[in-house]
Amino acid sequence: MTSTYSNDTINSEQTALLRTKKLDTLTDAQHRALHVIVARANPFASRENFAIWVSVQYQFQKMISNLYSNPTLKSLLPDLEDRSRLTAAEADLKDLAHPIPDVSLVHVDDFSTSEALGWLYVSEGSTLGAAKLKKKAADLLALSDKFGARHLAASPDGRAKSWKRFTDVLNQLPMSDTEEQKMALAAQDAFNYFALALQQAYGLDE
Ligand code: HEM
Repeated sequence: MTSTYSNDTINSEQTALLRTKKLDTLTDAQHRALHVIVARANPFASRENFAIWVSVQYQFQKMISNLYSNPTLKSLLPDLEDRSRLTAAEADLKDLAHPIPDVSLVHVDDFSTSEALGWLYVSEGSTLGAAKLKKKAADLLALSDKFGARHLAASPDGRAKSWKRFTDVLNQLPMSDTEEQKMALAAQDAFNYFALALQQAYGLDE
């Protein structure tokens, strides 16, 4: 049987698998810790509580908003600007009559491409769990991607395909070991930022 894959393809796919796996592993404890924080925050207890969750999503999206218009990143991911959920989160806050938080932006000019990808990894990855959150928002609070829970909507071609296009770029980009380590540290920073913002917004002990 003739293979459609060249050795180069196989090698790059092996590297790709490894890099994604490494990032997953290096941030797994933080992701699980986030689940605990989200459970304690109980965003689905009421629309008021959900609005606090949206304000943290807004804060995170606003903070990294410049990454979504970064020319180097856009050349890697042509649909990058459409991936930002800032506008959706802002509209949700207005739906829920919650104030728009004042947020300082990350100095993206100081970021290398691999560090920027580390932050985007966390932002993009959060769309995977969003399917379940969207269902809970609908079932428990009667919110939807037309009102109050717009920021949890799937991308037009679906969550899985959108995630694959992102991880393909992240995985296939030539990167040194040092850059890869910086990407992982950046992803951990992003998780820490989100966790802290959630704890502060809900007044939870750290
Ligand atoms: C700030 C970033 C993130 C937040 C706030 C977040 C939050 C969540 C929450 C709350 C759930 C559980 C949903 C539920 O079962 O009720 C979840 C599930 C999940 N998350 Fe994350 N997550 C984040 C980042 C990531 C990243 C970077 C990945 C990448 C691998 C990821 C992958 C997943 C997957 C695969 C699920 C399970 C989805 C399912 O069972 O349908 N998440 N996430």
